[in-house]
Amino acid sequence: MQKTQTYIQENKDRFLEELFELIRIPSISADPAYKGDMLKTADWLKAKMESAGVDFARIDATAGHPIVYAEKMIDSNLPTVLVYGHYDVQPADPLELWDTPPFEPEVRKTDIHPDGAIFARGACDDKGQMFMHLKAFEAMVACNELPCNVKFMIEGEEEIGSENLGIYIKEKTAELKADVILISDTGMIANDIPSITTGLRGLSYMEVEVTGPNRDLHSGLYGGAVANPINVLCDMISSLTDEDNQITIPGFYDKVLELSDEERAEMAKAPFNQNDFNRSIDIGKESGEKGFSTPERTSIRPTLDVNGIWGGYTGEGAKTVLPSKAHAKISMRLVPHQNSVEISNLFEEHFKSIAPESVKVKVIPMHGGEGTVVPTNFPAYQAASKALERSFGKKPIPVRSGGSIPIVALFEEVLGLKSILLGFGLDSDAIHSPNENYGLFNFYKGIETIPYFFDEYREIKK
Ligand code: BES
Ligand code: MN
Ligand code: MN
Repeated sequence: MQKTQTYIQENKDRFLEELFELIRIPSISADPAYKGDMLKTADWLKAKMESAGVDFARIDATAGHPIVYAEKMIDSNLPTVLVYGHYDVQPADPLELWDTPPFEPEVRKTDIHPDGAIFARGACDDKGQMFMHLKAFEAMVACNELPCNVKFMIEGEEEIGSENLGIYIKEKTAELKADVILISDTGMIANDIPSITTGLRGLSYMEVEVTGPNRDLHSGLYGGAVANPINVLCDMISSLTDEDNQITIPGFYDKVLELSDEERAEMAKAPFNQNDFNRSIDIGKESGEKGFSTPERTSIRPTLDVNGIWGGYTGEGAKTVLPSKAHAKISMRLVPHQNSVEISNLFEEHFKSIAPESVKVKVIPMHGGEGTVVPTNFPAYQAASKALERSFGKKPIPVRSGGSIPIVALFEEVLGLKSILLGFGLDSDAIHSPNENYGLFNFYKGIETIPYFFDEYREIKK
């Protein structure tokens, strides 16, 4: 892989300029106003794959945003790696909290990234990480050092639930035949502590609506005699967790896979500092389910969080009103072996059952998906471990993450394929937040590591 590594070094600056081009297209999947930019991004990626040397690249239309698919088959006796990533990004708002405009990438030095980090929406999640694969591939092809067959499947709907990709993989099962899936859309512990993500949480996402009176009322004339739906909603939400921060929905924990003491002791070996954690997000004290550590609370335990709550008057000044309606978006992160449909049903049933007679309640399930556990004792994991050891000079630590990539569970169910979660982000990258950023170190380390994975995977599969 020496030629490939030299090629990467010699083309570093161009790689970064190309990533900037990609980032400048505001591919926000959630907002229909950006439909044209989604198509533009897909076209741009297809062209880049073609010039990198794929046999063919295609834009496959779906009921939503298109999927970019490409292949390079060099020898049917060699293993095939299916690279998955997403070109869509989260909305950039609140815009006023960005130090520089979200779609105008800029490199700035930070304490965590003394060599500089790219500040922009999508810099890490997932344009920066996905693009590392295109550039690693380009380098391996240009240097005649590509060790495996490669298929690329880059979608535009990860941030909105991957519903159409779920349908797509069922239709294209034969074409997507591969030995393993490779994904860079997660993080690692620190730039000097490489890790491989071995678990993702599932998700159930709900919207609720509480209706009191049939119209907004004068809070003086009616206040005190009519249930206020915002007060009621707040009471209902606060009853969903108890004093130990356990979720009170009956049956919620029934299927939760409890880890053994040995497994928990193993987990506790991964470096983690509670003070640094608190300081990094400026909180006085951590909080969570009684009896579990912070790393456990954010990986092996399920959660319930309100993502947004609205109703009544929120404009300038004061308006004395007793509102007719109150709303909230509530998400639950799930762990093995909870099922997102079952949990959504339990939530709906319980939420309706705790509503007082004074209000009506509507529960609307939004997207969801199942969690994943990646074993550490199969060839692709060992290849990933060796690849990181080659580029970092240190053996990586397996870590379960709290985030979700729902399609990963479907890859296993539909395609029968395991995924390697070879992510290079850091928790401090502020993905989904203002001032999202991705270290130049991380971007280049990723491009350097990926060819080693291909190399090790071919060796191990011999
Ligand atoms: N790349 C993230 C997930 C992630 C980030 C996993 C860091 C582990 C570490 C992905 O783009 C994402 O944001 N997923 C959503 C779920 C989706 C259904 C909206 C999430 O986790 O909230
Ligand atoms: Mn992502
Ligand atoms: Mn995301």
